[in-house]
Amino acid sequence: MHILALLPALCLLLKEAQPWSYQNGIFHNSIWLERAAGVYHRESRLGRYKLTYREAKAVCKYEGGSLATRAQLEAARQIGFHICSAGWYDNGRVGYPINKLGGKCGAGKIGVVDYGVRMNKSERWDVYCYNSKSKECGGIFTDQKRLITSPGFPREYEAQQICYWHIRVRLNQRVCLRFHEFDVEDDVDCTADYLEVYDSYDDVMGLVGKFCGSYLPDVIVSTGNVMTLKFISDASINAGGFKLQYTAINGSLPIRCPDI
Ligand SMILES: *[C@@H]1O[C@H](CO)[C@@H](O)[C@H](O)[C@H]1NC(C)=O
Ligand SMILES: *[C@@H]1O[C@H](CO)[C@@H](O)[C@H](O)[C@H]1NC(C)=O
Repeated sequence: MHILALLPALCLLLKEAQPWSYQNGIFHNSIWLERAAGVYHRESRLGRYKLTYREAKAVCKYEGGSLATRAQLEAARQIGFHICSAGWYDNGRVGYPINKLGGKCGAGKIGVVDYGVRMNKSERWDVYCYNSKSKECGGIFTDQKRLITSPGFPREYEAQQICYWHIRVRLNQRVCLRFHEFDVEDDVDCTADYLEVYDSYDDVMGLVGKFCGSYLPDVIVSTGNVMTLKFISDASINAGGFKLQYTAINGSLPIRCPDI
């Protein structure tokens, strides 16, 4: 079992990194993303800070959305959206939303940290997209349990997929993730196709593992009530895909993940 909860140092780190805050008397963190009026963060298939402005626009467009405007990013920030990664947004600007002081982010200011309009559109950053509709693969799940499969499963998954599953169960619950089938194009560092699991509500912090090949990963249990899965496939060989299930478990009890 892969139980993050048993690693106090790591937990502390993850906790520290979580953007919790009180706002209008309500306890928020990035789990309120789904209310963030459709604003979300994306990075390149190749990793952090790899998108030119043109590519950033293409990433949002691929998911049926567009670059977030400054107003959308600010509206999202006001309800708890906090991400420590600079990304392109509308009109050739770069910035990121900061909700909580501390850490290396935000230069001591709360707000949308704005690098301004970039003269050089070939600079490479992440991106903030806006899309009020959800996309075919991935989504936001708040159910107590759910089966998650690669797009098209049990058929082979398609090339060029980017899927994000953001899971949020109740406060004081944990997410327990169990793999049933797993077959993703194998290569040494999982650079072609891969599934990543984050102990977080976004794909910036709390990476637990990056998986490819046909070895069935261990059970993964979140430290908090959120988890994010990210699946990327490239343009070449595809494979069988995956089927996994998450279950919400009581976070106050010793960790026991149901077998189903
Ligand atoms: C623009 O940015 C890219 C990427 O950082 C860099 O390679 C290029 O030299 C820059 N161009 C100019 C004119 O500064
Ligand atoms: C979780 O477990 C605690 C401790 O036994 C219990 O008090 C609480 O009611 C449980 N929560 C739920 C939602 O079952």
